[in-house]
Amino acid sequence: MKQKEDSLSVLASGGQGRRPILTGAVRRVLDSERLSPPPIWLMRQAGRYLPEYRAVRAKAGSFLDLCFSPELASEVTLQPVERFGLDAAILFSDILVVPHALGRRVAFVEGEGPRLDPIDATGIVALDMAGFAERTAPVMETVSRVRDSLGPRVSLIGFCGAPWTVATYMVAGKSTSDQFPARTLAAASPAAFQQLIDTLVEASAAYLVAQLRAGADVVQIFDSWAGVLGPDEFQRWSIAPTARIVALVRGAVRAARIIGFPKGVQFGLERYVRETGVDGVSLDWTVPLDMARDRLQSLVAVQGNLDPAVLAAGGAGLDQAVDRILAELANGRFIFNLGHGIVPETPIPHVEQVIARVRRQA
Ligand code: CP3
Repeated sequence: MKQKEDSLSVLASGGQGRRPILTGAVRRVLDSERLSPPPIWLMRQAGRYLPEYRAVRAKAGSFLDLCFSPELASEVTLQPVERFGLDAAILFSDILVVPHALGRRVAFVEGEGPRLDPIDATGIVALDMAGFAERTAPVMETVSRVRDSLGPRVSLIGFCGAPWTVATYMVAGKSTSDQFPARTLAAASPAAFQQLIDTLVEASAAYLVAQLRAGADVVQIFDSWAGVLGPDEFQRWSIAPTARIVALVRGAVRAARIIGFPKGVQFGLERYVRETGVDGVSLDWTVPLDMARDRLQSLVAVQGNLDPAVLAAGGAGLDQAVDRILAELANGRFIFNLGHGIVPETPIPHVEQVIARVRRQA
């Protein structure tokens, strides 16, 4: 309970038994500050590129067993923070915990990725929230444990998948390259698809509120597949549901800070930022830095956007890429991150190289 005594802690608005809101660097940038050097964390920072992760993963049983074990999930959440001294921890879990908690069958097949029973109109009608809080309780226990172990200056980021991205896996039952099955269902049966999205809005908002109440100080909404949608569909299936989640979460936790990550949308980013009401936007590596600086950073904090392939490659090219990002974005509200998740082949010294460079130690 170290952080509760820290003078930097301020009490959350109202509510008994709520955690104090902390002043970790990521949180401060989302609140309004420009920090130099900028805070840094990495998407998928707890993962297979770390030997200590692989060791815990090997004894956990299935991937979902790991997600639902507060003891092991909190351990792997803390691993990259302890190893690298990052400015934020991100809850170790998965976006597919939500369909699982809605009663769908979810499994992760080694080397192949997620497998779900593909949902149809009948399955969509049958989804319900009964049991959701109980099934996600172990995740909240993980959040609470991690918060108790982190110093007050390290932010704890909770997350969920955006309804569109979660729906793509629920409909196809697996990863696909262009989410053709979900795009087809949305076009052929828009009412049924809307109902699926509405259920996911409700579940995701409840899930994020519970994480914030358990001790997360920031939450991120991953819309990894926003980029496969046409402009009207992006509005309907990505922006509108995300805006509803943001409003619901803020209605329940006034001090919530929310980062959106609509991957692959390029020219849709400004509309996404203006219409969803997020406090920060995470950028993939295809986003031009001058566009991010001129059109987005004046509206919200920006986060990103080193290409995970450039990180994996390393060398002088990695330094140059980090320097370019800092030159364009570090004069405003900025959180250094990758443009998508770190890949398992990434050498650990490359991660150390980036962190030192961002902190101007190399
Ligand atoms: O960032 C972190 O360190 C927190 C943990 C985290 C995981 N998944 C753990 C994970 C987060 C934030 C996610 C989000 C997630 N999960 C997304 C959105 C972000 C993105 O990457 O686009 C998506 C689309 C998923 C769904 C998912 N989970 C897929 C497609 C896969 C298989 C592909 C893969 O990388 O293996 C997963 C599995 C998964 N989730 C792993 C991890 C560490 C690897 C499985 C393992 O270690 O056994």
